[in-house]
Amino acid sequence: MSEQTAEVKKQRIFSGIQPTGIFTLGNYIGAIRNWNALQDEYECIYCIVNQHAITVMQEPAELRANTMRAYALMLACGIDPQRSVAFVQSHNPNHAELSWVLSCSTMFGELNRMTQFKDKSAKHADNINAGLFTYPVLMAADILAYNADLVPIGADQKQHLELARNIAVRFNQRFGDTFTVPDCYIPKQGARLMSLQDPTRKMSKSDENANGCVYILDDKDTILRKFRRAVTDSGCEVCWGEGKDGINNLMSIYSAVTGRTNEEIEAEFKGKGYGDFKSAVGEAVADHLAPVREEYARLSADKAYLMQCMETGAEQARRITRRVLSKVYRKVGFLELK
Ligand code: TRP
Repeated sequence: MSEQTAEVKKQRIFSGIQPTGIFTLGNYIGAIRNWNALQDEYECIYCIVNQHAITVMQEPAELRANTMRAYALMLACGIDPQRSVAFVQSHNPNHAELSWVLSCSTMFGELNRMTQFKDKSAKHADNINAGLFTYPVLMAADILAYNADLVPIGADQKQHLELARNIAVRFNQRFGDTFTVPDCYIPKQGARLMSLQDPTRKMSKSDENANGCVYILDDKDTILRKFRRAVTDSGCEVCWGEGKDGINNLMSIYSAVTGRTNEEIEAEFKGKGYGDFKSAVGEAVADHLAPVREEYARLSADKAYLMQCMETGAEQARRITRRVLSKVYRKVGFLELK
């Protein structure tokens, strides 16, 4: 079916996630779960960005395994390869090709202002490679190659998206209308989860304390244990409040997996202690993640199916970007072969 035959052309969504280990509950609630919900309303394109991953040191065998695992997790979380384009970045060489052209429309000073570059170069002082610096240009290429209308991202990626917009506008001004200028998509319900051990910091796989972070493949006992050990405060009433970071975080998690409001949660736990509440959150999270774990187990046992989905996704992705890239090549004056 051609795109034009649909009555109203759906807006296009693009997003990417790095293949670095198991997704956390934070990745799931903050990102992937929303990706899933968007599939009905939008034309969605979702990418495992393994080329971005090598801007920091990776063990090759591990990167390969993590890419497969991230892809399987993405499908297990409900990304449907029949409805959306789900693929691996390195399987579509057009991103890297476009990235080169865009890098010549990106100013050194712009990249030098990126806070993520500053953070990452402080963290990986022994490996401040050029790819780490031009990372946002590749990200701009990911998005602009598909003429995406909307890009769901977390707050930490806003600066990169802003740069992608600037690059698109600049290119369009210089060479004529070529790229859609993408907008940021802020999910309606997008809780930012904090560490269970230090609720002033984001829940992250790099948390020093393993109990701070819940992974979407953790088994029920592990999930219950992590929540039982969650740091709270010296109070005893389950209610949202200033300075109650731990309880606030547990309330957002509980709300995210049960759909209940803060008032409903406060009413539910009135007169009960923190202990009961922590167990209830653990149970609710474990129940919520159980289907994802089951689906992941089923999918990861069927590598042939996963490979076949990857192949199809890559082909669909290349088909879309090939046209955009040749337009760009014509515009900048690259001589074409007949
Ligand atoms: N930089 C993003 C992150 O670390 C991942 C990413 C790469 C991305 N390319 C993208 C996100 C394109 C959205 C669109 O989270």
